[in-house]
Amino acid sequence: MLLVDEVESHSVASKLQLFDPGVDLRTMIGVDVRKAKQLLEHGFLVAIPTETVYGLAANAFDEAAVLKIFQAKNRPSFDPLIVHVRDREQVDEVASFVPPEAEVLMSKFWPGPLTLVLPKKSQVPDIVTSGLNTVGVRMPAHPLALELLRSLEFPLAAPSANPFGYVSPTTAQHVADQLGDKIPYILDGGPCAVGVESTIIGFEEGQCVLYRAGGVPVESIEGVIGELGIAQRKMVPVAPGMIESHYAPRKLLIVGDLVALLREHANKRCAVIAFNKTYDAWKCETLSLAGDLNEAARNLFAVMRAFDVSDAE
Ligand code: TXA
Ligand code: MG
Repeated sequence: MLLVDEVESHSVASKLQLFDPGVDLRTMIGVDVRKAKQLLEHGFLVAIPTETVYGLAANAFDEAAVLKIFQAKNRPSFDPLIVHVRDREQVDEVASFVPPEAEVLMSKFWPGPLTLVLPKKSQVPDIVTSGLNTVGVRMPAHPLALELLRSLEFPLAAPSANPFGYVSPTTAQHVADQLGDKIPYILDGGPCAVGVESTIIGFEEGQCVLYRAGGVPVESIEGVIGELGIAQRKMVPVAPGMIESHYAPRKLLIVGDLVALLREHANKRCAVIAFNKTYDAWKCETLSLAGDLNEAARNLFAVMRAFDVSDAE
């Protein structure tokens, strides 16, 4: 077993060779932005905090590094990654054109949980965008993520740091629980403040369309640029929310009228995730007693994970 610190005296380059696949390594969790920077500069993966969920990051311009993301997540190659930028200027390194509506949305919601799908520049490797001629871009609103991005000379391609299809991680420990043996370092920025993924907006034939609901409410976006259009389903791939199973715990999760469901499953160990009330069940977690949607979103994935590993049926 090797820790990054234990080999700190060697040159960075030779040290990092030690993290090639096949070597048994122990993941470190820490707040060392410099260490994260060095690993990323040498083509390694680092899990990073964002305000939405933790991301699994690599140099967006390094094809071999980005390939490691797909391997670690067991992610199908048809699912493109989001490129994280430090500021508006860096968008021009990856996107060939920024529509006026996108400019408005960036100035209004960045840094923040909003991803914009824009025409891509050729220097963005095809593996990042699954061969699409567009690229998803966002500027995260997390101090550590921004400090890291500002220290780097390249943007970071990063999907959520969970195995494909599973619930997204909202703490560093969630990442370690599932990807720990596959990555050398997790930058710990505390629990995610938003707790659900970014809203994704695309631009199709001059119209703004919604690809994924997320941290910025649709109403807030429409308040700025007017009504959103319906995405043409020709898009390949479809957004995660359009895949039959996504953000899914291993156990059966049923969404519906809790009173009716609890009656129907009265003989089972039912773990209830309620919005703002409590229910008499085997276990019950209320996401926000105050009925605050932001608080509920922040708690949702952590509760789903906790119940998934509990004795609930
Ligand atoms: O909040 C978030 O967006 C988090 C954090 C880490 O930033 N990231 C995230 O990434 O949720 P991921 O990989 O779980 O979801 C990325 C999704 C893809 O599944 C795809 O639907 C959409 O973004 N996407 C990315 N690039 C796209 C493109 N060029 N065209 C259409 N959709 C795209
Ligand atoms: Mg994801």
